[in-house]
Amino acid sequence: WSGFVDDIEAILALKRERNAVILAHNYQTPEIFHCVADIIGDSLALARKAVTVDAEVIVLAGVHFMAETAKLLNPGKTVLIPDLDAGCSLAEAITAQDVRLMRQRYPGVPIVTYVNTSAAVKAESDICCTSGNARTVVESLGAARVIMLPDEYLAQNVAAETQVEIIAWQGHCEVHERFTPADIRELRDAHPGIIVLAHPECPPEVVQEADFSGSTAAMSEYVGRETPARVVLMTECSMSDNVAVAHPDVEFVRPCNLCPHMKRITLANIRAALEENRHEVRIEPGIASRARLAVERMLSV
Ligand code: 13P
Ligand code: SF4
Repeated sequence: WSGFVDDIEAILALKRERNAVILAHNYQTPEIFHCVADIIGDSLALARKAVTVDAEVIVLAGVHFMAETAKLLNPGKTVLIPDLDAGCSLAEAITAQDVRLMRQRYPGVPIVTYVNTSAAVKAESDICCTSGNARTVVESLGAARVIMLPDEYLAQNVAAETQVEIIAWQGHCEVHERFTPADIRELRDAHPGIIVLAHPECPPEVVQEADFSGSTAAMSEYVGRETPARVVLMTECSMSDNVAVAHPDVEFVRPCNLCPHMKRITLANIRAALEENRHEVRIEPGIASRARLAVERMLSV
């Protein structure tokens, strides 16, 4: 803890000196999430709140696509990501050229792109979505058929809830694809009465066996609203650690999967980011203007 306390004190001082704020995703470790973050939430909340930031510097404690989204919405501010290798298997699953080819293959079909993608991919899309608004975004388009990229499972989970025909891609989250329906059955046998919450990046057969599915923020709100006696969050490990802090009476059963990308962000590299102004997110202006449009369209839905 003494190393933590030293870094936390330094980060709090650096934030004041540099007029900086820290945006932290729900998967950040508790010492980041609870001790240094100014704004916390799911991808949608971080994008929404990024627009309202009144500081000169934004440090994104999360993965690279989240930092790019913050930069798209704050082109005049300095946006820092403490580790440039904090990627995402979904963002790696598709390129801008792939999106152009999908548009050629399905002329006139709107393209909805998950925010877990590069700015170059967003720039080729009509509108973005997150796990928190995917169905609403798809239905807002008023189209009979929609292309949803690149998360196959999110697309299938949305397809199960809507009349809109969804054309999917074959990207997967390396963290959520590992959960299985057998995991849920074993949990129900071992922990009678347990409530199972699953992120919509999980395979559809997992979501179908769960009691509730929603974004990281929706899972957190569910626990706050329903206060189940026992719960398991089928998602990244830090979620339970962070939500449990506010709910000492809820028993969190914790088979979870770590996201190696999220775990690249540490107090030490947040401190170094503020001390050394690294790593500054830059997006080519031609790409940024088109990608911003796709994100802004999502925020206006
Ligand atoms: P949320 O938008 O639900 O926070 O999810 C982001 C993410 O990367 C999940 O793996
Ligand atoms: Fe990407 Fe999955 Fe990690 Fe989220 S949990 S950042 S979707 S790899």
